[in-house]
Amino acid sequence: MKQRTLLLIKPNATKKNQIGSILKMIEENGFEIENLKLFRMGGELADEFYAEHIGKKFYDELKDFMMSGKIVAAELSREDAILKLRELVGNTDCEKAALGTIRSIYGDSKGENAVHASDGIESAAREIELIFQ
Ligand code: CDP
Ligand code: MG
Repeated sequence: MKQRTLLLIKPNATKKNQIGSILKMIEENGFEIENLKLFRMGGELADEFYAEHIGKKFYDELKDFMMSGKIVAAELSREDAILKLRELVGNTDCEKAALGTIRSIYGDSKGENAVHASDGIESAAREIELIFQ
C-alpha cells in the first residue's frame, strides 16, 4: 500500500552540511519527496512532537538538541513507506544500526542520531499534520 511518512533531518546532520547526502539516499531508495521544509524547532513544538517521551531521563537533552539548530522535514511517499523508512534509518543507537543505514553513516550517538522517522500509521499522520499543517 502506498503510504506517507515523515523524515526529520536533525541538527547534528544539518550542521555538518549533510542535508543533500541524506535526501539523496532517500530518493535513491524509492521515496518521493512530497513536501519539504527547513525550520527551527521551538520548545512548544518539541513537547508536542515528542509528547510520548516527556518525563523520560533523556527528554531534556533530546529537547535541547532538537532546538539547537536547523531541522529539515520531508513528507515522503512510497509503497510501505513507514516500515521501509524505519529500515533505511536503522536502530536508534547509531552504534547498533546496521551497516549502510542512515544512522550508521550520519549518526554521532544514540541521541544525535541524524534523523527521525515516523514509527506507525497514526504517528506518521500526526507528525505530518504537526509539521506541515
Ligand atoms: O527515534 P526513534 O523512534 O528510533 O527512538 P525513540 O525511542 O522514539 O526516541 C526518540 C529520540 O530520542 C531518539 O531518536 C534519540 O534522539 C533520543 N533518545 C535518546 O537520546 N536516548 C534514548 N535512550 C532514547 C532516545
Ligand atoms: Mg520514535
